[in-house]
Amino acid sequence: MHKGASLPLPPADALSASATLGAHIAQAIDEAGGWLGFDRYMALALYAPGLGYYSGGAAKFGRDARDGSDFITAPELSPFFARTLARQFAPLLARPGLAQLLEFGAGTGRLAADLLLALEQEGQLPARYAIVELSGELRARQQATLAERAPHLAARVAWLDTLPERFEGVIVGNEVLDAMPVRLFARSHGRWLERGVVRADAEDGAGDRAETAQGGNAFAFSDRPLPADDLPEALHAIPGDHDIVTETHAEAEGFMRAVGAMLARGAAFFIDYGFPGAEYYHPQRAGGTLMCHYRHHAHPDPFLYPGLQDITAHVNFSGIAHAAADTGLTVAGFASQARFLMNAGITDLLMALDPNDTHSFLPAANAVQKLLSEAEMGELFKVIALTRGLDDALPLAGFARADRSHAL
Ligand SMILES: C[S@@+](CC[C@H](N)C(=O)[O-])C[C@H]1O[C@@H](n2cnc3c(N)ncnc32)[C@H](O)[C@@H]1O
Repeated sequence: MHKGASLPLPPADALSASATLGAHIAQAIDEAGGWLGFDRYMALALYAPGLGYYSGGAAKFGRDARDGSDFITAPELSPFFARTLARQFAPLLARPGLAQLLEFGAGTGRLAADLLLALEQEGQLPARYAIVELSGELRARQQATLAERAPHLAARVAWLDTLPERFEGVIVGNEVLDAMPVRLFARSHGRWLERGVVRADAEDGAGDRAETAQGGNAFAFSDRPLPADDLPEALHAIPGDHDIVTETHAEAEGFMRAVGAMLARGAAFFIDYGFPGAEYYHPQRAGGTLMCHYRHHAHPDPFLYPGLQDITAHVNFSGIAHAAADTGLTVAGFASQARFLMNAGITDLLMALDPNDTHSFLPAANAVQKLLSEAEMGELFKVIALTRGLDDALPLAGFARADRSHAL
């Protein structure tokens, strides 16, 4: 049975866009000699201009499949997420020379709008709110959201095409690192292979066919032997010789180094699902973390409907911390999302609502519960803060208790 058979069928125009992207990817595979690293496949499936998942017209963010969306993120779930971040950011923005915010990968623009509104309330509006967004389609959506939710503040927002050489202020990125392409590796009978992508109709794959094409998929995995010298450092440390499939994150770590080179003074906060390296590469996680999201179904097939579904991998926060440290940044804190939000005051904000006003209190409490619950986003999601030049600052409130930086 086709793997996607149990999932809702995309409309005809979306299927046609997916077929166009599929042809483009097939051409890239041919040009690469029949085998493409998974990172390159993922980059095309998510970001090929006009056709990739993030750069094309998919709805992406929303509450359920009825609106054509595929997943929900914390800023979409509740404005209390942005309001709590605002409490952490306000004292930093208040410091001389730091009154600027920069957001990476702003999605629908909800976080930008709600952060600006909350910082206005805190009396700590940044002079400028810059957004770096790869997707032109999302940039237009962000502009519309700001015009609708915070029209009087929209003029403070500027979209940047390239990173500034130097930035002083506060940086934030929610669920951005997990959307960066990863390389896949498999250890089989003690031998490391790189897992790449071939055309499903290719007669002789360029490596061992790891998984034959399932009906409808134009692509399949194919594993290629990896010279020992080419094995990424993170994989050297994996104990044992059990079979394993896992990922490495050169792109996210390169991104972190670019952020570190840019951040002259201030703090960068990245929030995402993931683990420290030792947990990431723990024998129990021998299947890796690659995951796809289509119409609020999570499944493991990255070849289903290229361009119409999200493809992600969890973040190795040790890799991010080490890349940041390479550029001289300090790890100022690492905590679960639940701990961070509670430390930064999310429950105080919720308690400021009138519990007798059940119409507004109950939905707000329900959404905050999803942000905090261990069974939902509270434990899997983490917050890491990386700083430079804040040595005289008070410790960041979000990490006042249960900081896990030592685990990185
Ligand atoms: C899963 S979405 C999260 C969107 C939003 N932050 C939220 O929480 O709803 C990932 C976002 O990261 C963006 N992105 C991925 N790589 C990026 C990069 N190198 N620079 C800036 N944005 C990036 C994508 O275009 C997309 O907007």
